[in-house]
Amino acid sequence: MPSFSLNVNNKQYTVEAEADMPLLWVLRDLLNLTGTKYGCGVASCGACTVIMDGSSVYSCQRPVGACVNKKIITIEGLSEDGSHPVQKAWQKAAVPQCGYCQPGQMMAATAMLEKNKRPTDEMINSVMSDNLCRCGTYHRIKEAIHIAIEEINK
Ligand code: FES
Ligand code: FES
Repeated sequence: MPSFSLNVNNKQYTVEAEADMPLLWVLRDLLNLTGTKYGCGVASCGACTVIMDGSSVYSCQRPVGACVNKKIITIEGLSEDGSHPVQKAWQKAAVPQCGYCQPGQMMAATAMLEKNKRPTDEMINSVMSDNLCRCGTYHRIKEAIHIAIEEINK
């Protein structure tokens, strides 16, 4: 079995896996980072969103062989104590309902805010439309993003 060196949440890991194993399964099954969720497996829901080299990506669509020498951040890497502005905003707006989609939503929002500290509503709608929520928390997600924008621009 080939082995791959991965940088996840600023830690270096070596994993043994087939090169085409999706990053999602490497994170969940080999590294026990289960915050990243499996929804559809076909690039349609965003539950598996992580940040790779500063951009949000669907981890179900990234073979581990293509993740070497990339900086990968998962929901566990935002902060351990809930102090990341996006984590605080999500708490303040009480966003989650069942919660299943929320790690992906938060990673998509974080990647957007790292690129643009003051995204327009149009931009927010466009970026966040890649992440589905069956519970319909879209209104609170937007509210939380605005809270995070206030916080990071203080
Ligand atoms: S599980 Fe990856 S996009 Fe749905
Ligand atoms: S909070 Fe339930 S799917 Fe989004």
